[in-house]
Amino acid sequence: MLKITFLDPDGNSGKTVEAKSGLTLLDIAHQFEIEIEGVCGGDMACSTCHVFVSEKFLDKIPPISEEEEAILQFAAGRKANSRLGCQITLSDELDGLEVQLPEETESLLF
Ligand code: FES
Repeated sequence: MLKITFLDPDGNSGKTVEAKSGLTLLDIAHQFEIEIEGVCGGDMACSTCHVFVSEKFLDKIPPISEEEEAILQFAAGRKANSRLGCQITLSDELDGLEVQLPEETESLLF
């Protein structure tokens, strides 16, 4: 089991959960009722699963694909460490991962 911490938008509080590798960050967020919407269900069509990945884990997750980049362009408050939670599949080397939720998200779906 991996420990994953979801920090609130202010970065001061959050929730640490134990998760299985092989699931996506979005799956885990839904499992533990973390406020990540994921309107499109992981089809990379909405950007409501936008998160900020802690710097020390950025090089441990696969690089952003062209498709993810295209969606992230519409993510509110995008930063250099922005990723889509539905595109981060948990693996053992992500044990201890911290992600911060954005202040707001914007859905590209209506
Ligand atoms: S859940 Fe919609 S882009 Fe990730």
